[in-house]
This record gives sequence, structure tokens and C-alpha cells, in this order.
Amino acid sequence: MTSGDFTRRTFLGASAGAACAPTQAAATQAAAAQAAPVAASRVVAAIGPGPAALSLSVNGMAHRLSVEPRATLVEVLRDQLGLTGTKLGCDRGACAACTVWLDGAPVCACMMFAHDAAGHRITTIEGLARGDALHPVQAAFIAHDAMQCGFCTPGLAMSCAALLEREPHPDAAQVQAAIAGHLCRCGSYPHVVDATLAAAAARRGAGE
Ligand code: FES
Ligand code: FES
Repeated sequence: MTSGDFTRRTFLGASAGAACAPTQAAATQAAAAQAAPVAASRVVAAIGPGPAALSLSVNGMAHRLSVEPRATLVEVLRDQLGLTGTKLGCDRGACAACTVWLDGAPVCACMMFAHDAAGHRITTIEGLARGDALHPVQAAFIAHDAMQCGFCTPGLAMSCAALLEREPHPDAAQVQAAIAGHLCRCGSYPHVVDATLAAAAARRGAGE
């Protein structure tokens, strides 16, 4: 395969499950995909080109779907499951608006084929709250005015909530690192950091 053969499909295949990351990291992934063709590292059964059966676990619910192999996870979440809280911005791994959890880790849902999510636990912003009780990060975003237009907010909330799962005592630098790669055209970053630190304190206070 030459660099001229590199396509969106080879990039998505090589980066399936990759965490949302800054643009530089996405570029590095692209370079790695060019250097190491997918066929050399992954052997998968051929499906398509028409829709194929797919079972997805989303927010604790099992869904049996018929999905074209080319469909990305964000497309299926939004268009087939109606979970429009996950936003589609750049559609190329550069803004993190589409961030969801894959087995608890934040990933860009535009950078993953839906079929590659089979067998994994997917959590979207709709699954973050516990019943009528907002997740501490969601509540803190509201209390700290951590949004303006709100387009980037679901993705940011998913990354901040994931941070608190792995680090209950984050400092500001760790929050900033967790949201690196998220683009907020409204410039809400300082409030997002404040909100996440407040959410961490609230969780500790509640014994979570
Ligand atoms: S990174 Fe997925 S929409 Fe921008
Ligand atoms: S609040 Fe508008 S893009 Fe972030």
C-alpha cells in the first residue's frame, strides 16, 4: 500500500477504539496507519457492502440493528438509535464533540466503525445520569455555567466524567489534559475546569 492508497476507511479501521485526542495525536495515528497497513495487524470477516446484522450495547441496553459496514458509531447512535446528545462536528477526529465511552474510556465515535463497537459497552451522554439524578459533572457544568451554545458540552462532559472515574482527586492540570483535543468555539474552557474540580469534590463528599 502506498500513501496514495490511504483512505478514510483505512484510517478508521486502523484507529478503531482510539481515544479522543488532540489534533497532533490524530495526525500521528494517520501516519501510523500509513506505515502499518490494516491487513497486517487485523484479520476480520468480510461483511457488506449492504447492511449487516449488528448487536450493540448502549447505555446498558442491547440493540439488534442492521448497519452498513461503512457507518460510523456516531452515525448509528444518532441516526438509528436517536441518541442525538452525541454531537457530530468535524467528523474527522479533530474536535471531540462526538466523545462517548467505550468500555468506560472516552473515544471519538466518528473515528470508529459501528461494527467495531460490537462486544463493547458504549455509554453516551444519555446514559451518564442515574435516573432523574444528573451525574455530578452534569450538575457542576450547570452550576458553573460551563457552556454557552452547548454543542461541545456532551463530549466535554463525557471526558470529564471519565477522568473522575480514573482520578477522583484531579488538579486543574489533569482536567486540562483530559479535555485536550476538545474544541469549544465559545471558549468555555475555564468554567469546564472549575466545574470538573467541583464535581470531583462533590463526589468525594458524597462518598462516591
Ligand atoms: S472528533 Fe468526532 S465529530 Fe469531531
Ligand atoms: S459551548 Fe459552544 S462550542 Fe462549546
